[in-house]
Amino acid sequence: MTEATRPDGDQLDWRERAFDLTRGIAAYCQSPVVAGLARVIAKHPEADISNAFNHKQVACKVWAREALFNSLGGRFGRIAILGGWYGVLAAMLLEDRRFDIGRVESIDIDPSVAAIARTLNRDAGERFAAPTADMYQVDYAVLGADLVVNTSCEHIADLAGWLRLLPRGTRVLLQSNDYFSEPTHISCVETVEAFERQAGLASLAFSGALPQKKYTRFMLIGSV
Ligand SMILES: C[S@@+](CC[C@H](N)C(=O)[O-])C[C@H]1O[C@@H](n2cnc3c(N)ncnc32)[C@H](O)[C@@H]1O
Repeated sequence: MTEATRPDGDQLDWRERAFDLTRGIAAYCQSPVVAGLARVIAKHPEADISNAFNHKQVACKVWAREALFNSLGGRFGRIAILGGWYGVLAAMLLEDRRFDIGRVESIDIDPSVAAIARTLNRDAGERFAAPTADMYQVDYAVLGADLVVNTSCEHIADLAGWLRLLPRGTRVLLQSNDYFSEPTHISCVETVEAFERQAGLASLAFSGALPQKKYTRFMLIGSV
């Protein structure tokens, strides 16, 4: 039986349907990110990819990518993304042809996310890596990133303490939110001004807020 005539009934579970659909969307829009999502759906049933790639998460990362390009341009030798989860932002940056990026490291303390991030970013080859590490234990001088990204600031206990680990002058993109009711959000802020005070950056190229249905996301781009 060919693919075209395969019965489309109950035998096909939602995962197979989602795989077929994302693969089709990837072929239609020629997107490595969407092709990577199809691979994740097929290979990692344990991954919470529909949460990591829901429309709010995507909106926040598109916002980050646009503001980054407009504030700092598109040329980066090495980008480090801390709390990088499944590597969605890395994939979105590596796919965007306006950017010229040497390598992206998506670093996360949770060892279970690395394989999923690698599957998502497989087409980037050596330009992508997903090391497992605690962001407080990374030697940032050795890492040598010319941009450090943390879109998980609401998850980390001591933002200013972490930022003090970065070499002076390092450029950063930070996101947090006011979604206090989520139990894993231990470091939320009420306003973007509060986020500016919490981070205490040496220079600020961008500061903004993106209202979502249940919460507002905040973003700072600048240097330590
Ligand atoms: C839920 S996710 C990301 C949410 C965020 N809205 C985003 O998409 O950027 C938060 C991630 O931060 C990671 N994380 C938390 N503490 C960390 C630490 N100390 N070092 C590295 N990663 C950490 C978690 O393992 C998790 O994958």
